[in-house]
Amino acid sequence: MKIYCAKDYEQASRITANILAAQIILKPDCVLGLATGSTPIGAYENLIKRYEAGDLDFSSVHSINLDEYRGLTPSNSQSYRYFMNTHLFDHVNIDKKNTFVPDGLEEDKEKACQDYDEIIRSHGGIDLQLLGLGHNGHIGFNEPGDSFAKTTHCVTLAESTVAANARFFASASEVPKEAYTMGIQSIMQAKKILVMVCGKDKKKIVQKAFYGSITPQVPASVLQLHPDVILVGDEAALM
Ligand code: F6R
Repeated sequence: MKIYCAKDYEQASRITANILAAQIILKPDCVLGLATGSTPIGAYENLIKRYEAGDLDFSSVHSINLDEYRGLTPSNSQSYRYFMNTHLFDHVNIDKKNTFVPDGLEEDKEKACQDYDEIIRSHGGIDLQLLGLGHNGHIGFNEPGDSFAKTTHCVTLAESTVAANARFFASASEVPKEAYTMGIQSIMQAKKILVMVCGKDKKKIVQKAFYGSITPQVPASVLQLHPDVILVGDEAALM
């Protein structure tokens, strides 16, 4: 695992954007695995700046997001599709037809999951997967459990995740209780994984996930088995 310890969130965002940009420059038709949440927002802002400066071209890039709340429309400001559009896709020359987020409106859970796995498969997998890290060690919405869920599945969100995400909703009761998420196997099959973690509230889980035992109780711990992981964080999370 390569570790880049930045002095603060702004620098960590620039480093994360550098790595994503390098991937796009080296392979213009790459498949990026993208994440939502508060952590990658600064990296996406940096990518937009580089696009505006003429240094990045997203026209052949494909993206496959990790997860989506079940039951939210793409136009709902809390849906992850809306997040991706407003934080990145609307500001760069990516073709939205080449951007994928699980279909939160598909009521047939099995179909939603199979369709998404087929999207990942038909793209030949993911070149670079960006991940954030949940306080309980979740990646995507793969919550702590007794086994690692392999493929895309529908999850009931852990209470702590609902509580953490309540900051984006009017109240905790409005946070959807279910989500579709890419599975651990699909994440682990990405050629390269880029984890961004910032803030002192993530320090404990960083220790557990990257230096503790590998267990489905800490889903991110499985990343220790991946041959090409880059961890970018600020001093508060990493030191
Ligand atoms: C989002 C996602 C989640 C977040 C995690 C950390 O697509 O998959 O696993 O990465 O909940 O969220 P933040 O960045 O808000 O701390």
